[in-house]
Amino acid sequence: MANLSRLEDAIARGGYSALLDRVLITEEQLNRRVAELGAQISQDYAGKTPLLVCLLRGGVMFLADLMKHISAPHHVDFMAVSSYGVGARATRGQPRITLDLNTDVRGRHVLLVEDIIDSGHTIDHVLRLLQTREPASLRVCALLNKPARREVYVPISYLGFEIPDEFVFGYGLDLDEYFRNLPFIGVVKKEYQ
Ligand code: PRP
Repeated sequence: MANLSRLEDAIARGGYSALLDRVLITEEQLNRRVAELGAQISQDYAGKTPLLVCLLRGGVMFLADLMKHISAPHHVDFMAVSSYGVGARATRGQPRITLDLNTDVRGRHVLLVEDIIDSGHTIDHVLRLLQTREPASLRVCALLNKPARREVYVPISYLGFEIPDEFVFGYGLDLDEYFRNLPFIGVVKKEYQ
């Protein structure tokens, strides 16, 4: 578990740069890839009015940018799943739905929009739950995939980037709830992980 006071001291002294080991994916790379994904999704879902389901909170920035590039008519809704405690390397528990959809997904083409697939347990839990509601189709669009950490199989239909097993933050992903606003994906310095 991260030492919160040390982390907050570092943030007060230097902002994110005090914690950043290196930029892993630049803003330009993110913009380009998200635009490509949006174009592909527009093509694949033409005439289907998909429902994009964003998993809070990490998926918010990805969803917001992705939507701008989806020209096909679509709807959005949100779910929240909690599985981690506080701290950069906090232990993971059983995924728990803390916010459910407002939309009835029966017969809908559902596309889950997620920031990162790590062990896979979060998205696996959501996929199993939504499948019981009988959508017409159910697919996953993930910005980041960390295959080295996978514990359960996850079918990913749309993927932004495959990344190594590093602790990353920015572009929706937090470091103890900080820095979701950064426009790039960075690797956290070892001493703050
Ligand atoms: C993160 C991330 C994924 C999940 C991936 O969520 O947004 O939902 O962990 O991990 P997994 O594949 O091992 O299940 P987190 O619980 O940190 O919440 P957040 O989205 O609010 O940051």
